[in-house]
Amino acid sequence: MDARLARIAPAKAPSGNSFAEAVVMGLARTPKEIACKYFYDETGSRLFDQICELPEYYQTRTERALLQRHAPEIARLMGPEVEIVEFGAGSLRKVRLLLDALKNPRAYTPVDISGDYLADVVRALGADYPGLTLRPLVADFTLPMTVPALAGRLRRAGLFTGSTIGNFKPDVAMALLRRMRGTLNGGGLLVGVDLVKDPRRLHAAYNDAAGITAAFNTNLLVRANRELGADFDPDAFAHYAPYNALAHRIEMYLVSLKRQSVTVDDQRFEFAQGEPVHTEDSRKYTIESFREMAARAGFSPRAVWTDPERLFSIHWLEG
Ligand SMILES: C[S@@+](CC[C@H](N)C(=O)[O-])C[C@H]1O[C@@H](n2cnc3c(N)ncnc32)[C@H](O)[C@@H]1O
Repeated sequence: MDARLARIAPAKAPSGNSFAEAVVMGLARTPKEIACKYFYDETGSRLFDQICELPEYYQTRTERALLQRHAPEIARLMGPEVEIVEFGAGSLRKVRLLLDALKNPRAYTPVDISGDYLADVVRALGADYPGLTLRPLVADFTLPMTVPALAGRLRRAGLFTGSTIGNFKPDVAMALLRRMRGTLNGGGLLVGVDLVKDPRRLHAAYNDAAGITAAFNTNLLVRANRELGADFDPDAFAHYAPYNALAHRIEMYLVSLKRQSVTVDDQRFEFAQGEPVHTEDSRKYTIESFREMAARAGFSPRAVWTDPERLFSIHWLEG
């Protein structure tokens, strides 16, 4: 085993709002809902990786291309000898583009709620970047979180890609950016943000022909069956993801295809035919609306990069 990886801090389970509480409390509400962070068990993370490769899902390839093209400038802005802290790190594919451009990056701290998957991808990254100190942190970044300073109190730069910011209501997103700013101790944050665009393009991205997004959404029920002993019939729920053009967001639901009852944690929940469970919002910003929100969170928005079609944007926010 790589000696460096043996020194990784032990994975801590996210505390506070557990999956069981979220499902039981969320199904007791009207309308029913389950927070999207619970998509990401190991299966959910792997399904998300498949989504990233779909022809309809322009987000990942556009953001990767932007990172690749502008990596030298981003590296200059982040500076030498930094510790990269990545929030919602996922597959760690995007950070590689920056690590290759940065001058002597010292440490990488990926934060993610999906612990088993994070351990796996960090092991692979460690093999490719032997000089880098790796500090994976299994944590829920929506809860108060401490990222202890490394020896030498390295300067930090943050990374928040994949337009994960779009999953939060604007006031919650602003509070989250504010909290990240605190974690970065004055360092800047690079954020990937999906943009408002042709609703047909957005609709296609969340309703792919291969049905991978549907499987990702339905995995929530499969996970509840496995982890909580629930008795959902995943085939009795439909993936439904319309674009709400007034609110600039994709809304994702699991819709009950019939009248049915489901037991979770010894509690029974009734579903009417056609009743939705809200599972995710994915808000789209304009460049201006995102910069305004970042400024309200205390950042100074600086450089912004976008592709010729203005599908996606990357923002450098100074801390
Ligand atoms: C939309 S994916 C983006 C992944 C990656 N940043 C990318 O651009 O490909 C969201 C990622 O954030 C993680 N995540 C979602 N909610 C989280 C939370 N509350 N705390 C920590 N990680 C979270 C998920 O496990 C997943 O890896």
